[in-house]
Amino acid sequence: MLKAIRAFVLISAVATFLSVRAVPKVSRVGRYLYNADGSRFYIKGIAYQEQGSFTNRTVVASADNPFGEPSSFIDPLAQGDACARDIPFLSALGVNSIRVYSVNSSLNHDACMNAFSQAGIYAIIDLALPLNGSIDRVSPSWSTNLLNQYIATIDVFSKYDNVLAYNVGNEVVLQDGTGIAPFVKAAARDIRAYLSAKGSSALVGYAAINGAANWRDALANYLSCDPSSSNSGATAIDLYGLNDYEWCGDSTFQASYAGTTGDYAGYNVAAYFSEFGCITSPPRLWTESGAIFSSDMSPVWSGGIAFSYFPATSAQGQFGMVTISADGKTVTTSDDYDKLKTQYGLVSPPNSPAQASVTAAAYPTCPTTNSTFLASKVLPPTPNQAACGCLENALSCQFTPPTSNYSAIAGTLLDTGCNLLGQAGGSCLDIGGNGTTGVYGRVSDCDPAVKLSYVMSQYYEANKRNAQACSFAGNGTVNPHASSSVSAIAVASSCISNPGATFAPTAAATTGAHTSTSSSTKGSSANSAVGNTHAVGGLVAMTFVGLASVMLVMA
Ligand SMILES: *[C@@H]1O[C@H](CO)[C@@H](O)[C@H](O)[C@H]1NC(C)=O
Ligand SMILES: *[C@@H]1O[C@H](CO)[C@@H](O)[C@H](O)[C@H]1NC(C)=O
Ligand SMILES: *[C@@H]1O[C@H](CO)[C@@H](O)[C@H](O)[C@H]1NC(C)=O
Ligand SMILES: *[C@@H]1O[C@H](CO)[C@@H](O)[C@H](O)[C@H]1NC(C)=O
Ligand SMILES: *[C@@H]1O[C@H](CO)[C@@H](O)[C@H](O)[C@H]1NC(C)=O
Ligand SMILES: *[C@@H]1O[C@H](CO)[C@@H](O)[C@H](O)[C@H]1NC(C)=O
Ligand SMILES: *[C@@H]1O[C@H](CO)[C@@H](O)[C@H](O)[C@H]1NC(C)=O
Repeated sequence: MLKAIRAFVLISAVATFLSVRAVPKVSRVGRYLYNADGSRFYIKGIAYQEQGSFTNRTVVASADNPFGEPSSFIDPLAQGDACARDIPFLSALGVNSIRVYSVNSSLNHDACMNAFSQAGIYAIIDLALPLNGSIDRVSPSWSTNLLNQYIATIDVFSKYDNVLAYNVGNEVVLQDGTGIAPFVKAAARDIRAYLSAKGSSALVGYAAINGAANWRDALANYLSCDPSSSNSGATAIDLYGLNDYEWCGDSTFQASYAGTTGDYAGYNVAAYFSEFGCITSPPRLWTESGAIFSSDMSPVWSGGIAFSYFPATSAQGQFGMVTISADGKTVTTSDDYDKLKTQYGLVSPPNSPAQASVTAAAYPTCPTTNSTFLASKVLPPTPNQAACGCLENALSCQFTPPTSNYSAIAGTLLDTGCNLLGQAGGSCLDIGGNGTTGVYGRVSDCDPAVKLSYVMSQYYEANKRNAQACSFAGNGTVNPHASSSVSAIAVASSCISNPGATFAPTAAATTGAHTSTSSSTKGSSANSAVGNTHAVGGLVAMTFVGLASVMLVMA
C-alpha cells in the first residue's frame, strides 16, 4: 500500500511538473496573436540586453539606426543574479515581453528563463550573433554554420515555456540590399521546419529596419508570402517586427503612425513594433504607447518593444531607462522609466477580433521584383551538413587553419583564392549565390571553411597538383586520402547531388571533416572576387559593412 501511494505521488508530481505552464501558450491565428483562453495577446515589451563593445559607434547604417556595429555581446539570459535584480523593475513597468538580441547557446539560461516565466514575461530571442554569426550583407549566404548556430540556440531554449518567438534576423535587409531577402526567407523556412519537427509552438520572426515604403512594404510582404502560389506558409514568418521610431516627442497617431499603419492594413501575419522610442525630441513622453495599443492600431499591430531597459548609447544619444551600479547590485531608474511606466499602466488594448471570427492566414503570392525590390522568389537551399562534410572529406586540398580564430583569415583567403583561381581559368561561381537572380552555387550553403577548401582544391588541381599550389602560405594541406583522379568539381557533383534541395534540418551535428567546422566569410566577396584586382584591397571596407547585419545587437 505504501509503495502504491508513493508511486502514485511520484507519477502525479511528474505529471504536474509537465503540465504546469507559468505563462499560457500564445498562438498566431491569421494576423493576430491569442492566449490559450482565446483573449488577444499584445506584446507589451522592452528591449533587454546590456550593450557590448562596438566596432565603430560613429558609423550608422541609416537614419533609422543610429547604432554602430557590435563586436561582442553579453548574454542577458545567462546572468541569473541580474535577471533577479531586474525583474521587479520590469514587472513594475507592466511588461509581458522582453526582446533579447544575442544569446550564447553554451551557457545556462535556467535561472533567468524560469524567473521571467514566473513573472509572466515572454522572451523574443534573436538567433543572430555579432561578427560572423549573422547573414552577411556583402556576401550573403544561408549556410551550415549559421543554421547550426541557430539550431543550437533553439535546442537550449526549447525547454522553456516562455519563448514567444525566434527572430531569424534583425535589419539584415536594407534599402540598397534587397537582394539579400531570399537568404532571410530561406532561414525562416528552415527554422520553421525545425521548430515544427521539434513540436515547438514558438513563432518565427524577423525585425525590419524602417525605410521607404517602396521596398519596406515589399520586404514585409515577401517574408510572409508563398513563392509556390499554393497558399502555403512553409516559407513565411509568423511575426513581422518593424523597428519604428516615427513618433518623436509629443505626437499623434495621425502625424506619426497613420501612414505606416495604412501600409500594413492588408498584412497577413502578426506584426508589431520590434523597437520604438525615438529620442530626438527629449524628454520621451512615451505617449505613443497609447496609440500603439489603441483601436487605431490594434487591427494591424500586436503591440511593441520599447527601446531600451539597459543604457544604450548611440550616435543620436541615450536610449536606456535605468542605470546599474558598478557592483551590479543596484538599479536606478530614470524619469524616462517613470514615464514609460505611467503610459504602459494606462494601456488597455481592445480584446478583438474574437479568435473564433478570425480566419486562418492566407499566404499571398510574392511581390514582383522591380527596381526598388530585387528579391527573387527562388530561395537558397537548406544547408546540408552531411553533403558539405562529404565534400570536405574528399577534397584534394584542405583549409587547415593555423589558428582556431580563423574568422578574419578565411575572408582574406577566399578573396585571394578566388583571384588565383580566376587567373588559372576557374571560377568561384559554385560557392556564391545571388538572391536577385535566384541562382545559388552548388557549394553555396557550405560553411566558409569548406568553401575555402573547395577553392583551394580547384587551384591545386589547375596547377597539376603541385603541392606548392595547396599551401596558401601555410593555410592549406594536401589531403592524402583524396583520389588523385577525381576533381573537386566532380566531388561536389557527387556529394552535393541535389543542390537545390529543401528539407527539415536536424540537430546540429559536428562534422568530423577536419579541425574546422566553420569560419567567417566576413568581407569575402565570394561571387565577385574573380578577376577583381581590388578584391583584397576592398576587404577592410567590406568587412565593416558586413558587420552591419546584426546592427542592433546590444552586446
Ligand atoms: C569610425 O568611422 C568613422 C567614419 O567612417 C571614421 O572616421 C573613424 O576613423 C572610425 N573609427 C575607428 C576607430 O575605426
Ligand atoms: C559562449 O560562452 C563560452 C563560455 O563562456 C565562451 O567560451 C564562448 O566564446 C561564448 N561564445 C560566444 C559566441 O560568445
Ligand atoms: C516595387 O514593388 C513594390 C510592391 O511590391 C512597390 O511598393 C514599389 O513602389 C515598386 N517599385 C517601383 C519602382 O515601382
Ligand atoms: C565564427 O568564427 C569562429 C572562429 O573564429 C567559430 O568558432 C564560429 O563557429 C564561427 N561562427 C559561425 C556561425 O560561423
Ligand atoms: C581574432 O582575430 C581577429 C583578427 O585578426 C582579431 O581582431 C581578434 O582579436 C582575434 N580574437 C582572438 C580571441 O584572438
Ligand atoms: C546578382 O545579379 C544581378 C543581376 O544579374 C547583378 O546586378 C548583381 O550585381 C548580382 N549580385 C552579386 C552580389 O553578384
Ligand atoms: C594564412 O593566410 C593569412 C591570410 O592570407 C596570412 O596572413 C597568413 O600568413 C597565412 N599563413 C599562416 C600560417 O597563417
